[in-house]
Amino acid sequence: MTIDSFMTAASDYASQVDRTFWLLATISGLITLLVASLIAGFSLRYRRGSSAWRGQLPDRLSRDVEIGWTVATLFLFLFIFWWAAANQLSALDVAGDAMEIHVVAKQWMWRVQQPGGAREINEIHVPENVPVRLVMTSEDVIHDLFLPTMRLKQDVLPGRYTFLWFTATKSGVFHLTCAEFCGTDHSVMAGRLVVMTAPDYARWTNAQPEADDLAHQGEALFRSLGCSGCHAPTSSIHAPDLRGIYGRAVPLADGRVVTADEAYLRDSILLPAKDVVAGFAPIMPSYRGAVTEDELLKLIAYLKSLSRPGTAGVPPASTKETAGDMPALPGGARQ
Ligand code: CUA
Repeated sequence: MTIDSFMTAASDYASQVDRTFWLLATISGLITLLVASLIAGFSLRYRRGSSAWRGQLPDRLSRDVEIGWTVATLFLFLFIFWWAAANQLSALDVAGDAMEIHVVAKQWMWRVQQPGGAREINEIHVPENVPVRLVMTSEDVIHDLFLPTMRLKQDVLPGRYTFLWFTATKSGVFHLTCAEFCGTDHSVMAGRLVVMTAPDYARWTNAQPEADDLAHQGEALFRSLGCSGCHAPTSSIHAPDLRGIYGRAVPLADGRVVTADEAYLRDSILLPAKDVVAGFAPIMPSYRGAVTEDELLKLIAYLKSLSRPGTAGVPPASTKETAGDMPALPGGARQ
């Protein structure tokens, strides 16, 4: 399959960006043309030795016209600012039902995990006309995911999640590159964004090697890492109940109230002493170094699934097999 030109606009947002670009280019071109012809005209008319009149201009010209065109251009540019800013801001409103695809960058490749569990390297398959939200992080240095045909670019940072979202409106194979110099092989850190019709995407997903979806893989990790030993409702160690945690407002011991988003869940696993939940002792051990970025994404996908209506919504009840493995934590009780 050949890769489409990066000039292709493959989403409505991309077309909006193009419209803004061409409007600005046209206005700039017209103004450049006007200024250039005035320079040429005036240099001819007022060349040395010409008999053109060089006296004081009437007030009407030197003041009224001056104020007039200054005000007119001010409003023109305010309008352009408003128009372009409104388009840009619309790119921040993620559709609530967006499909989530996880992207982990590392020197020098993009590792991608589909919601169904399929893995890809340097390729992202997405269905057409479905909002897609990319949840991205890096294992080493700063990378930058650039989807030229979507007119989107976002830094991908170690230790943080960043996001991009788009709704592809055109199927095809498009460029995907790293747009931040990230080391020797930065230039090979490229791949393909494959936009397929919904039936084709479903067929492609089915053809992938059997894999559990992300949330189920996360659930398995939640048990094997021993999280369920403390966080199950029936556990004797009182750790915060994680049912419906994602998106909820969480009151903290120091009086702050934070929203449990991806960043909060990530920090709670890696830096548990940072945001201690009100009413609980800071006894959770840090899992920094014990879980990889991929595993973190799975754990977070599992925690998110506990907030989705229709899913089990209960952390594994069968905690007996893991609870016994947990080291007895000193003073592990509610304050
Ligand atoms: Cu990754 Cu440049």
